[in-house]
Amino acid sequence: MTEDFRRHPIDEQYVARLAERGLRMTVVDPDDVEGQAAYPHAVNRGFHEPDRTEEQYRTFRDALQRRRLVAVYDDRIAHPWPIATVGSWSTELTLPATAAGEGRVARSWAISTVTVLPTHARQGIARAMLEQELRVAAERGHPYAMLTVSEATLYGRYGFAPAADATSWRIDTARVRWVGHPTPRRLEPATLEAARDEAERVYERVRPNRPGWIPVWPERWGQLFAIGSGIAPDEKGVRRAVVARDEHGTATAVATYHVTSTGNDFEEHELHVDFIVASDAAGLAAVWGYLVQMPLVAVVHAHLQPTDLPLRWLLGDERAARVTVGDHQWVRILDVPAALAARGYLEAGALRLRVHDGLGYAEGDWMLRVDADADGAAKVAAAVDDPEADAAPGLELDVAALSALSLGGVTPFELAQAGRITELGPDAGSGRALAAADRLLRSAVAPSLTVWY
Ligand SMILES: CC(C)(COP(=O)(O)OP(=O)(O)OC[C@H]1O[C@@H](n2cnc3c(N)ncnc32)[C@H](O)[C@@H]1OP(=O)(O)O)[C@@H](O)C(=O)NCCC(=O)NCCS
Repeated sequence: MTEDFRRHPIDEQYVARLAERGLRMTVVDPDDVEGQAAYPHAVNRGFHEPDRTEEQYRTFRDALQRRRLVAVYDDRIAHPWPIATVGSWSTELTLPATAAGEGRVARSWAISTVTVLPTHARQGIARAMLEQELRVAAERGHPYAMLTVSEATLYGRYGFAPAADATSWRIDTARVRWVGHPTPRRLEPATLEAARDEAERVYERVRPNRPGWIPVWPERWGQLFAIGSGIAPDEKGVRRAVVARDEHGTATAVATYHVTSTGNDFEEHELHVDFIVASDAAGLAAVWGYLVQMPLVAVVHAHLQPTDLPLRWLLGDERAARVTVGDHQWVRILDVPAALAARGYLEAGALRLRVHDGLGYAEGDWMLRVDADADGAAKVAAAVDDPEADAAPGLELDVAALSALSLGGVTPFELAQAGRITELGPDAGSGRALAAADRLLRSAVAPSLTVWY
């Protein structure tokens, strides 16, 4: 295996599959200046993004330099860029914590920039690219693969499932009767640079305890705070940042936002939250209180917020906010024993899991055990090796359903109601196995993810 994951070769079967169609799928070598330069043009075209300036592409390329880039070329046509792209990297995914609140992270294969030009759509190119990604992830020992998606209909077929939802908020500020927080925090205006640095520190403090979170890379930090990405800070309206500090002066919450005007009426501005992170409840409340009570702002919009954001308890009038929930962080288990042993558990218990996986990686009949004296750590083995497996509560499900459960963001009962899980064993149909699975697989903190990747 190559040391550098960016050079990990594509399994021959996928290369051959596209070669049959006259297409050349290749890894873009990190030292291939031309190949690297062409790549972001193809990605932007794929996502209907405008062509960028060289400065903007430079930032994009800096980020891409840390990824394994796969490009598909059609050598029969005179097109200077790849006709399909996918980029990926090895990183961390936070998993549910133990009852003692000890966070857990696992290696996870992040997949991004999946594009196929419309001229070449529906020929199986994305399928070949995605299947080779899962192969690389598994070959390199990643129990999970993950992605955020442009369309929710694309990735279930490869075993991915939404494991952490995100909420969008629209707050009518005229209805807010802010009820505050018992521990007020000091608020400070901050430059975008200072706020970015503080936000990064807060995020990294919090990340090990937020299931679904991943490390954010430097160029994404720049974009979130409109710094150094070639995007002028005021491209989308006036960009501002605010920081909340505790009694020791430590930043515990940071927000960046921009305000747009809707016409002639000064009181009708709209405020858009671009990013917000908090390491304590008082900081979070202070920053949200600041945002929703902003002078001259009629509406506040925020996206990618956790499903357990406590904001509606602070608004005074719950109906000041309209909240919509949607899928955001998609996860795919590749190695069942490693994936389930990597997370923490709140309770002791045992559960049999008969998993089906069309691509083979997670297929098997498994036994998950968390012993009472194991401090929330699990042992996972083949059911055939466990003499008590036949008597244990059990579930039969496909890998996407198991992946959906992996961060504790959906209950086994909900998936059973949707026909995605059936009970196994002597009490099948009684609900006992679903209840046992619910107790074992839950997370004390709702999974979330506040960035795109
Ligand atoms: C989405 C996209 C990558 C699909 O590429 P593609 O090469 O046409 O896909 P494939 O031909 O390999 O199709 C693979 C499967 O996905 C299905 N599929 C493809 N596009 C789909 C769509 N937009 N919605 C639902 N299913 C789709 C195909 O029917 C096929 O199903 P099957 O193999 O189970 O029968 C391509 O349309 C694209 O680049 N879109 C714009 C950028 C984008 O949204 N990228 C995804 C970022 S997360």
